[in-house]
Amino acid sequence: MHDLYSLQAALRLEEVDLPLIYALFRPLIFLFPAEFAHHLGLTLLRAGLCIGPLRRLLRWWVLPKSNRLKTQLWGQTWDHPIGLAAGLDKAGDCCEPLAALGFGAIEVGTVTAKPQPGNPKPRLFRLPKDQAIVNRFGFNNPGCEGMAANLRDLTLPCPLGINLGKSKVTPNEDAIEDYLTSLHCLKNEADYVVVNVSSPNTPGLRDLQAVDQLRPLLTALQHVCGDRLPLVLKIAPDLADEDLMAVADLAVELSLDGLIANNTTIGREGLKTSPAAVDEMGAGGLSGPPLRDRSRAVLRILARHLRGKVPIIAVGGIDDGEEAYRRIRMGASAVQIYTGFVYGGPFTAARMAKELDQLLARDGFRSVTEAIGVDLESQ
Ligand SMILES: Cc1cc2nc3c(=O)[nH]c(=O)nc-3n(C[C@H](O)[C@H](O)[C@H](O)COP(=O)(O)O)c2cc1C
Repeated sequence: MHDLYSLQAALRLEEVDLPLIYALFRPLIFLFPAEFAHHLGLTLLRAGLCIGPLRRLLRWWVLPKSNRLKTQLWGQTWDHPIGLAAGLDKAGDCCEPLAALGFGAIEVGTVTAKPQPGNPKPRLFRLPKDQAIVNRFGFNNPGCEGMAANLRDLTLPCPLGINLGKSKVTPNEDAIEDYLTSLHCLKNEADYVVVNVSSPNTPGLRDLQAVDQLRPLLTALQHVCGDRLPLVLKIAPDLADEDLMAVADLAVELSLDGLIANNTTIGREGLKTSPAAVDEMGAGGLSGPPLRDRSRAVLRILARHLRGKVPIIAVGGIDDGEEAYRRIRMGASAVQIYTGFVYGGPFTAARMAKELDQLLARDGFRSVTEAIGVDLESQ
């Protein structure tokens, strides 16, 4: 390992400007329709990183060599607290190459009990002026059995979360059975499980966020997870503040293992993209910087209400180390990115981890854990 460090230093590899290289390629990639570019990117990633030792070397190369970033969550160790959010790898067939890019954890899905094609295309739109995305994929995925086959026998260098949703054809009255089918099928492949009741793209799904709907659902899933498998709930940013607090109270009541705040928004406020262009895109969830303010507000409400009783993973408009640091200081135990990765390029998480490490060192923190919630009182 010591020789590798010397080689890395001698070749000045740490100084290669990867974001700049991606910035040069991005206009080319953005010439393609968004969903085509998405599949092309994943295909190239799988092909380019199909060899195990190459993946391990790349991950080692891009990750900051700092113990300060080590993050303990549910008894599991993340190399750093910046994970990949759900929705990029919906089939779980790209986790090894994605892990090689240096994420602290990978979340796959949303997966449903039954395979489903998702909504008609086009269903993915870029808003370059806002560095944002609108999507209405509608949980296109191979179903829990298809995902289980993809995940079997993987060796990942970081924790793997599996995000579960409800099949579109299943009515809300039968939602519990639908989620349970997926959980039984995938529980042995996951390090943590996420219940997604917050996507705006499955009709009626978000009604399950009402506390009297959530309680039986979460209780049934907890029964299967037992003490071994952490169960986490992902919520929408569009919940009213009092509903957020009701969900937080439920999380405490049920001793839930965590909350992920938050999914995409149905709101369209504050966009630089022209209203006509936004209208033309139609319905869907908005992500990226326009979601940032609401995401911070949701985190603030939850963190103040929970006071560390339930860990929170912050997601929504996070795209650099400074924003990750801010959310951690606000009370997040870890963060996730999606849209920032699309605009920032393959090594965004690794770059953010380096920036976060520098900020922690600047402020005298010996570990990232020490920084969690330090701004809770002042915000
Ligand atoms: C194209 C796209 C697809 C997504 N699919 C899912 C999904 O299947 N399940 C889910 O829980 N979240 C999904 N999300 C939401 C993200 O996981 C994340 O919560 C949201 O985009 C906010 O983070 P960001 O601003 O970093 O993108 C998706 C987001 C995008 C942009």
